[in-house]
Amino acid sequence: MGQNISHSASMAEALKAAFARLFGSASPALFFAPGRVNLMGEYTDFNGGHVFPCAISLGTWAAAAPRSDGRFRFHSLNFPQKGIIETDDAALPGTQLVYDRRRYGWANYPLGVPAVLARRGHALPHGLDVVFAGNLPTGAGLSSSASIEVLTAVLADELFHLGLGRKDLALLAQEAENAFVGMQCGIMDQFAIACGKKDHALLLHCGSLACRHVPLTLDGYRVLIANTNKERSLTESKYNERRAECETALTALRRLRPVGALGDLTETAFDAAAALLPPSPPLRRARHVVRENQRTLRAVEALERHDPVAFGRLMNASHASLRDDFEVSGPELDHLADCIRRQPGVLGARMTGAGFGGCVVALVPAALPALSALRNAVATAYAAATGRQPDFYDVSPVDGAARCDD
Ligand code: GLA
Repeated sequence: MGQNISHSASMAEALKAAFARLFGSASPALFFAPGRVNLMGEYTDFNGGHVFPCAISLGTWAAAAPRSDGRFRFHSLNFPQKGIIETDDAALPGTQLVYDRRRYGWANYPLGVPAVLARRGHALPHGLDVVFAGNLPTGAGLSSSASIEVLTAVLADELFHLGLGRKDLALLAQEAENAFVGMQCGIMDQFAIACGKKDHALLLHCGSLACRHVPLTLDGYRVLIANTNKERSLTESKYNERRAECETALTALRRLRPVGALGDLTETAFDAAAALLPPSPPLRRARHVVRENQRTLRAVEALERHDPVAFGRLMNASHASLRDDFEVSGPELDHLADCIRRQPGVLGARMTGAGFGGCVVALVPAALPALSALRNAVATAYAAATGRQPDFYDVSPVDGAARCDD
């Protein structure tokens, strides 16, 4: 399934109507940013390793127009009860945004973008009125946060005439999340959303930001995303804790040999060094990172030699490593991945994104009747094991964030 045009069209109409009602103007510019699903390479990004995500056809839309003063007024059709979130006069262009996380709620994500621009010394010529709406599940590992951040970066770039490149937009959005939301995320999500390409996944080396689009040709199979519907909790603090553990392991390894980042190590080099250190949680986190990084490269090779079976096996190995060494899955993700793997013809399944709940991505037979039988069987088995109903998303790889009304 490609991006659902009629759905996009009705989203555009809803945004324009809300914009006219709330902000009194009928001609805002329209923008779209996809979400992303990561196919392989989890927790490798901030370790200078490789990731293999693709931008997906679920995402976030915005209707935006310049204001004559320096205020930013944001509204979300997903959180209508929050009304219009508005910055005060201290947010005048060229000054530092007065920033209070508790006050802005969901709007922290888009507001971080003008805040970072101001911090970087851009003299913003005016404020913006923006209405947002999205169809990504929030906090489910499909990057609803990065989607709205990159969307805001793209619309700010266009409406402020900044002339930023795609990588700059991704870095700007990441800095907004790091500095103003407090999640010390890597670059994967924002990069995939800014630089996605229709029908392709993206092999990105997060140390150098060198990247290559790889056709997502799956020879009779397709990507299926299933949501555990387990609400994530404490994700931000656990994520930051894992990041700190990786740094602890890197420091220990550096006492034994020169190493720039965990992503620079081969499995053999890591195993030799790790054998000299006492076992510890940080060392297991590092083992995951080193193996996952190599798995990512092997998965891309498998895809390119049209070997989806090997790709699926690597997905299963990735999940096991995230469960046992990195410890970011949990019973719901483990059950859902297991239920999917047990269905006929399925090649592999793994959690995707930060984990602690959220979504599983799987490689399943493409034929539609088999797919609906698979969904029913998985829903029944998963509900029996966990008491929850899963959701399924039918997505395809799409282009990165862009203006969508011209
Ligand atoms: C989240 C972060 C990414 C990445 C993944 C785990 O999605 O935003 O930077 O670290 O978790 O791979």
